[in-house]
Amino acid sequence: MAKQVSLVVNGKAAAVARGDSLLEAAMGAGILIPHDCCTGQCETCRVRVYAGEVDAQGTQQGDTVLACQARVIGDAVLQFDAVPEVRKLAATVSAIRPISPDIIEATLLLRRDFTYLPGQYVKCKFNGYPSRDYSPTLRTDGTGERNELILQIRRQVGGVVSPDLGTRIRPGHKVTVQGPYGSAFHRTGAGRIVLVAAGTGWAPIWAIARAARYREPSREMVVIVGARDARNLYMADSLAWLAETGVASIMPTSSGAKAAGILSGRPTDHMPALRPDDAVYVAGSFEMVAAVQARCEAAGTTCYADPFVASVAKRTIRDRIAGFFFARSANWPKAPQTQTTENLRP
Ligand SMILES: Cc1cc2nc3c(=O)[nH]c(=O)nc-3n(C[C@H](O)[C@H](O)[C@H](O)COP(=O)(O)OP(=O)(O)OC[C@H]3O[C@@H](n4cnc5c(N)ncnc54)[C@H](O)[C@@H]3O)c2cc1C
Ligand code: FES
Repeated sequence: MAKQVSLVVNGKAAAVARGDSLLEAAMGAGILIPHDCCTGQCETCRVRVYAGEVDAQGTQQGDTVLACQARVIGDAVLQFDAVPEVRKLAATVSAIRPISPDIIEATLLLRRDFTYLPGQYVKCKFNGYPSRDYSPTLRTDGTGERNELILQIRRQVGGVVSPDLGTRIRPGHKVTVQGPYGSAFHRTGAGRIVLVAAGTGWAPIWAIARAARYREPSREMVVIVGARDARNLYMADSLAWLAETGVASIMPTSSGAKAAGILSGRPTDHMPALRPDDAVYVAGSFEMVAAVQARCEAAGTTCYADPFVASVAKRTIRDRIAGFFFARSANWPKAPQTQTTENLRP
C-alpha cells in the first residue's frame, strides 16, 4: 500500500502521509486549516469531507470531521468555509457593568478594526492574567460601535479572571485580543435556523440571531435561551427586539424560581422536533451542547457549536505550532463576507 496519498483542501492538492491528522498533513504541505486547541474541543478545525475517506476518530457529524483528530487513510477531498485571518491587537477596557447577579458586560476599545464572523470567539488576555476565550457580541439592546468588542462574562466561582472583572480589572485595563476562532458562525441558508443558548452562551447566539435577521429576514427562526437561575436571564431586551422582527422565543430556567413568561426545564426540554434541513446553533456549557448535538445527529440536522469548555481543560499543542500558524497567515483563505460589529446593526 502506498505510504503517500492525495489530500485536496479547498482546491489545493498535496501528497501526504497516511496516519497523520488531517491538520498536520495539510499544514505539512503548507495548507492552513483554521484551528485553535488541537485537542478536539474547540471545533475551529471542522472540515467537510467532500470525497474520499478519512478515519474520523469519533468526530464525525454529518459529512464533517475535526481535522486535528481525524486521520489520513486514503485519498480525500476536504473543504472548509473561509474565515477572517487571525490577528492579535491591543485593546483597553472602556466599561464594565453588571447585567445580572452573575453576569458582567465588558466593553473593550480596540485600537484597530477587527473582523470576525457572528458567532466566532476570541482570546482575551487582560494584562497580568492568563488568556481566556470569549464570544464577542452586541449589547442586549443591539448597540455596539465598530471599534468596540462587547463581551458578556459569567463570574465563575474560584475563577482566576472573571471574579476580578469590576474589581482589579477596571476601565483603563490593557487587554490583548487574538482571533477570531471557531466554526459556529452564521451562515445563510434556506431551512429554519434554530438557536439554543444557556447563560452567557447567549453572547454568540445573539450575534448570530442579529446577523440572521438583517441578512435573511424572511428565514424562519426559533430561539430557546435558558439559565440555571432565572435572575441570570439577562436577554429580555434582545428577545423583545427579535419579537418585533417576528421571532418567537422561549426562556426556560432549570431552577425553581419562576417569573412571568419563563418556563421550567432546560433549553433541550423546549427544542422543537428537528428537521433535516434545519441549521442548529448551540452555545453554552459542554453538557448542554453535547445534548443538542446528539439530537441533531439523530435527526440528521446540521449543528454548529463551539462549547464553552474551561480554559484549564484546553491545554494544547497550540503553543508549539503557534509560530508556524502566524508565519503562514499570509496563506489564510479570504472570507467571502466578513463581519464587524458594525455590520450587525441596521
Ligand atoms: C469558545 C469559547 C467561548 C467562550 N465564550 C464565553 C463568553 O462569551 N462568556 C463567558 O462568560 N465565558 C465564555 N467562555 C468561558 C471562558 O473562556 C472561561 O472559561 C470562563 O470565563 C472562566 O474563566 P475564569 O478565569 O474565571 O475561571 P478559570 O480560572 O478558568 O476556572 C476556575 C474553575 O472553574 C471551572 N470552570 C471554568 N469555566 C467553566 C465553565 N465554562 N464551565 C464549568 N466550569 C468552568 C474550571 O474548571 C476551574 O475549576 C468561553 C469558552 C470557550 C471555550
Ligand atoms: S477541535 Fe480541532 S483545533 Fe480545536
